[in-house]
Amino acid sequence: MSRQSLTPQQQAWVDALLAQMTVEEKAGQLHQLSPSIVGGFDVSFEELIEMFTDGRISPAEFGKIMSTSTRDYHEDDIRAGRVSSYLLDDPETANRLQKIAVEESRLGIPLLFGLDVIHGYRTVFPIPLAETCSWDTELFEASARVAAREASARGVRWTFAPMVDVARDARWGRISESPGEDPYLAAEYARAKVWGFQGRDGVTQENVASCLKHFVGYGAVEGGRDYNTVSMSRSMLHNGYLPPVKAGVEAGAMTVMAAFNDVNGVPCTVNGYLLRDILKERYGFGGFVVSDATAIRECVTHGIAADLADASLQSIRAGLDMDMNSCAYHNHLAEQVRSGAVPMELLDDAVRRVLEVKTALGLFEDPYVSLERAARYETLPQDHLDLALEAAEKSIVLLKNQGELLPLSKSCKIALVGALADQPAEVLGAWAISGRESDCVSIRAGLEKTGVQVAYAPVCGPADAPDSEQMRRELEAAAAGADVIVAVVGESTAMSGEAASRSDITLPGKQRKLLELALATGKSVAAVLVNGRPLALQWEDEHIPAILECWQLGVRMGDAVAAVLLGECAPTGKLCCTFPAVTGQCPSYYNHPNTGRPGSKSKFTSRYLDAPVKPLYPFGHGLTYTKFQCRDLQIAENGDALEISVVAANTGKRPGVETLQLYLRDVTASLVRPVQELKGFCKVFLDPGGEKTVGFTLPKADMGFYDDGGNYRLEPGEFVISVGGSSEDVLKGSIWLKF
Ligand code: GLC
Repeated sequence: MSRQSLTPQQQAWVDALLAQMTVEEKAGQLHQLSPSIVGGFDVSFEELIEMFTDGRISPAEFGKIMSTSTRDYHEDDIRAGRVSSYLLDDPETANRLQKIAVEESRLGIPLLFGLDVIHGYRTVFPIPLAETCSWDTELFEASARVAAREASARGVRWTFAPMVDVARDARWGRISESPGEDPYLAAEYARAKVWGFQGRDGVTQENVASCLKHFVGYGAVEGGRDYNTVSMSRSMLHNGYLPPVKAGVEAGAMTVMAAFNDVNGVPCTVNGYLLRDILKERYGFGGFVVSDATAIRECVTHGIAADLADASLQSIRAGLDMDMNSCAYHNHLAEQVRSGAVPMELLDDAVRRVLEVKTALGLFEDPYVSLERAARYETLPQDHLDLALEAAEKSIVLLKNQGELLPLSKSCKIALVGALADQPAEVLGAWAISGRESDCVSIRAGLEKTGVQVAYAPVCGPADAPDSEQMRRELEAAAAGADVIVAVVGESTAMSGEAASRSDITLPGKQRKLLELALATGKSVAAVLVNGRPLALQWEDEHIPAILECWQLGVRMGDAVAAVLLGECAPTGKLCCTFPAVTGQCPSYYNHPNTGRPGSKSKFTSRYLDAPVKPLYPFGHGLTYTKFQCRDLQIAENGDALEISVVAANTGKRPGVETLQLYLRDVTASLVRPVQELKGFCKVFLDPGGEKTVGFTLPKADMGFYDDGGNYRLEPGEFVISVGGSSEDVLKGSIWLKF
């Protein structure tokens, strides 16, 4: 968002309002709360969300608590104009609190209600890591638009999304919420999501303010361990982690959330280089920055602030505008302004940003939510369900299909095994806090709906370890008379998302044993993965003929998996994140430097004694039910751009869609550059035997990189251009450029 997104009249109106405000009222506009849950669960809304996310309470329990517990909403503070925003998903309560703010406070400034609407509200879409594997920017935007429509109907006008953290370490649980490992694809995702949430041409009541998070580098936490420290060069920050934020700001994002982590020893919450120099000055970000939950208070724990007052001082000075749940600004900011420790113009700048977002959302004109509208999407509309199915189908990635085991014939008899196949709530994935189990189609239900013959046995799930003999008996009983075994294995929702890092990313529990027992029956086995991160599948890749990555696909998961398994719909997904062979390879990503001794079989190179150098499935990988081949790569200079083309051919027996990817390598530069960098992609549909020339235009301005001073550099020399169906399956050519 830029200041210019408001009319001069609106800007003048905000300035006039600001001029009337007391210091307490100004500090109040920077104070966000989640209602403390009292009664049965005396924990904050925040902790309740965590308990739900990490599986300590079930979706049903969560719903019950949210609907029955009494809560302290700090109404006197609202009356005094000292609360700006709430994390709340409850239209009736929102209207009641809004009435106090608008009709009983001195200036009647409306509250802004925010919520984590990360991949859908009631209509839950695939987790972001899955949806990004569709490489479909129109879909990214459309699903955000539906989420905004449903959430805004319930009074939520601000979502803490899109999460745009580039994530290269599969041990990190929040990779499930991310757009994967590549900055270019993450930037395309960020832009599309901001447009989807906020609208492209002006904000309506059906839009919500977006929130680019987490600013910045959260995906690079050391050891893949959540909330851990982050160290990286400024060139890596600019080249590898800032691009999605820059793209989201350019798309008009209204808010940004500062990350929990430090970057090079300075927590993002108090990091003036990041918040002021880069985000607000260099990128011209005109919206407001909110802290992550209790992150200002955590600056004391980080060891950069002596106490909450010091944390408040450092945060506001660094450019952190709104305090989520620390009460730091609520308790200390007014006094710090009166004492002169915080200049009034610093406070005014933060307050103006918040008021301008509330103005842009139309909250002053229309602060309440109509209860009729709030009920509108409680039964999911068919067009929302159709989009959820499309998103789920496009997010599925076929990792392996030896002997073309898939698709299965509709007349075949399927032994469906694995507890995850029949757990509807497990299709939602992390951060689906407004989703409902009753809306979910499990894989078992999806298959049975098609009329195909299914014999089901749970055998085991990710979190249980039944006796192997019992597993064998159950599995053999289901497999008897079946033509094929479909084994649904993976992770529970609680095993990814926030505070869910894993030190071993192989299949949890006894699910590999389940696969071994399935193979021992002598039947063909197809593995269907339900998971929130890349898994280390070296053994599975060596033994299982077909592996279908199905992630957590949201409410229509069962229908989408059935359609792909039975060939109604061919898989078209491409990985946005590398799958390592073993956990020890993490972090594993395609856009890495070459090093002086690239890993190979010879001893004195960058390799492991006990594991392969190469990952199992590379970035951009994804098979389908036909074959594509590229030939005749052409590269030509054309003024300020390169014109690149290939001929793509469908050499298989079925129609299909291929996502062609364009990669660049700057062979010699003043900083070592990645062996490949994604610079474009496009989809091509071809009938069997068909072929088509596919072109890319690569602006020369996009061929540079940032140096450690954050300066963008275009350097002459040799560039390798590659195009293909994955980062490994490419045609290569090179060109010398002078610039
Ligand atoms: C959480 C997450 C953040 C989320 C916020 C509000 O701890 O880090 O992504 O938006 O708190 O729930």
